[in-house]
Amino acid sequence: MRIGVVGCGKISGIYFKNLNNLPNTQVVRCADLDVERAKAVAAEHGVPAAGTVEELLADDTVELVVNLTIPVAHVEVGLAAVRAGKHVYAEKPLALTAADGRLLIEEAAQAGVRVGSAPDTFLGAGVQTVRALLDEGAIGTPLSGAVFMLSPGHERWHPAPDFYYQPGGGPLFDMGPYYLTALVNLLGPVAAVSAVAGSGFPTRRTPAGREIPVSVPTHVNAVLEFAGGATVTAVFSFDVPASTIPHGIELYGSTGTVVLDDPNHFGGPVLLRGRDDAGWREEPLRTPWSADSRGLGVAEMVAAISSGRDHRASGALAFHVLDVMETIHVAAERGVRLPVGSTASRPAPFAAL
Ligand SMILES: NC(=O)c1ccc[n+]([C@@H]2O[C@H](COP(=O)([O-])OP(=O)(O)OC[C@H]3O[C@@H](n4cnc5c(N)ncnc54)[C@H](O)[C@@H]3O)[C@@H](O)[C@H]2O)c1
Repeated sequence: MRIGVVGCGKISGIYFKNLNNLPNTQVVRCADLDVERAKAVAAEHGVPAAGTVEELLADDTVELVVNLTIPVAHVEVGLAAVRAGKHVYAEKPLALTAADGRLLIEEAAQAGVRVGSAPDTFLGAGVQTVRALLDEGAIGTPLSGAVFMLSPGHERWHPAPDFYYQPGGGPLFDMGPYYLTALVNLLGPVAAVSAVAGSGFPTRRTPAGREIPVSVPTHVNAVLEFAGGATVTAVFSFDVPASTIPHGIELYGSTGTVVLDDPNHFGGPVLLRGRDDAGWREEPLRTPWSADSRGLGVAEMVAAISSGRDHRASGALAFHVLDVMETIHVAAERGVRLPVGSTASRPAPFAAL
């Protein structure tokens, strides 16, 4: 399928590389608000055409738009793509609010085009191996879990980190999608949440000394209650100078524990230990997708469109994750436990395109 990429910033490089190497996708045009940047990136990655977003949307050869803009532009660009009759796959989060996410999904449905969304790391070997183990009953009934994404924030390395401290950013909306999408894939939908959140710092500072205002919580403690019965404690923070707690997911079942490495990556290791085992066992990964395969969700979506089945990194899944995140923020603001209004099905296991 012929792909147009909108947004040629920091993350775009891996998408250009992978979308031109995956078997069913080819980038034919790219665009950015900064047209010179789009042209430079096109030259670097051998993309035949580059220019404005309007030119990209008017190009009839572009069938699917991959939207790699900053979160505040995800719905605006997505709606423009849908109105131009193109499928759209966006970086996370799907939208800043559940209402905006719903609008995009409804307009796409009316237009007869599809919405897909990052993250697609849950299609990787790590999460899929844990998925297979859970489905085989390797830890019995999942009862609880723990997630600690503790970090000092992205301004240390990102060239334009302001969006990480605006609505659509913060540790929950930025890193939460990797964890929540993986968890929904593993445990099913989230039924209710409670949370406490805050900001350790009113402003942040880049290495060059520029001050960034903070308008979102930067330390979020949440408890997720899954419809299937498990509860997961999840902490997402940009306020932690250093920590020894790994960035993975631990799931505790009635007969054992399974540990997944960082769900922001595609691979393992995956560790398993039964209640009576003397030690941990590293499980062989069940699928080949261990390297950075960002864009795999686009290729899987293209394959699904070709065969007329549902795609896995779907707007519906991303919408549920967005709804969970929004509900966590509201629960923290109000100091209450809240039901999550939406639900989602677990995507089918994934091994090959
Ligand atoms: N940087 C990472 O490591 C990383 C990793 C995973 C996901 N993401 C996600 O990818 C998205 C982009 O992140 P990034 O780090 O590449 O940001 P970035 O700021 O480096 O790049 C964003 C690009 O989008 C362009 N842009 C902004 N609004 C636009 C609009 N309305 N129309 C056209 N172009 C527009 C900007 O000019 C810029 O070139 C975000 O949603 C982020 O959460 C980033």
